[in-house]
Amino acid sequence: MKKDTLIKRVTASGVRIYGEEAFEGMRVSGRLAAEVLDMVVEELQVGVTTGYLDRICHEMIMDNGAIPAPLNYRGFPKSICTSVNHVVCHGIPSESRPLLEGDIVNVDVTVIKEGWYGDTSRMYVAGEKVGRRAYQLMEATHECLMKGIEVSRAGATLGDVGHVIQTHAESLRFSVVREFCGHGVGRQFHEAPSVVHVGSPGEGLELEEGMIFTIEPMINVGGAGVKTLSDGWTSVTRDHSLSAQCEHTIGIGKDGAEVFTYSPKGWDCPFERVLV
Ligand code: MF3
Ligand code: CO
Ligand code: CO
Repeated sequence: MKKDTLIKRVTASGVRIYGEEAFEGMRVSGRLAAEVLDMVVEELQVGVTTGYLDRICHEMIMDNGAIPAPLNYRGFPKSICTSVNHVVCHGIPSESRPLLEGDIVNVDVTVIKEGWYGDTSRMYVAGEKVGRRAYQLMEATHECLMKGIEVSRAGATLGDVGHVIQTHAESLRFSVVREFCGHGVGRQFHEAPSVVHVGSPGEGLELEEGMIFTIEPMINVGGAGVKTLSDGWTSVTRDHSLSAQCEHTIGIGKDGAEVFTYSPKGWDCPFERVLV
């Protein structure tokens, strides 16, 4: 097999260091994933099913010459993940229950475009009104993501990233899910490193220019415990409390992190459109 020259080298801990050509590819795939989530802003309403959202995302991804990475990934049956209310992550889109007023929904899209994986998710609300604690949870989760991105730079560590996320979430008396983490991404869906959303300053992997990974904190109103349903995918909070998640794919550049998956329309927080 031909050596992948887009990967400059691999660190001692198995993390790939990507070059400018990779960053160009990630800008394109990240932008498409974000555009799909922008499209969802106008489609996610009371009465629609998550199965419908899956179909329209699948169609838009294919129409743009890309492939939805989740489809058939380790047996996952759909093209996106949709996680409603107490679902933490990996919810499987279905026709079984139309969305209700005040439901909080994470939509997680990963596209493969020219071999590059763009992975991003946001929080949405069905309808016009949402509970106060639910709103606070979504706001805090997005703040956690952005704080993690702000500290991500060459010379910082993954412990620094986890620490700012954990500190912010716990200061608001929310809890951080431990079972799932961010991940290296680029030419594969999930690669080294694991990006844990808790940690201590100065600990863990030291970040280097050219690393590409996601940050995707899952934050709960109640306890941090989760369990997987019998479908083998859907992860829910053990205490059935609400859970939220926000995800960006980033690359470590010369001067801090470049975010590949920002909304071109500035709609990174669709939940902000509702009344509390
Ligand atoms: N997009 C998810 C992530 O952020 C992974 C989904 S895997 C699937 O890593 F199989 F559930 F789609
Ligand atoms: Co991810
Ligand atoms: Co994702």
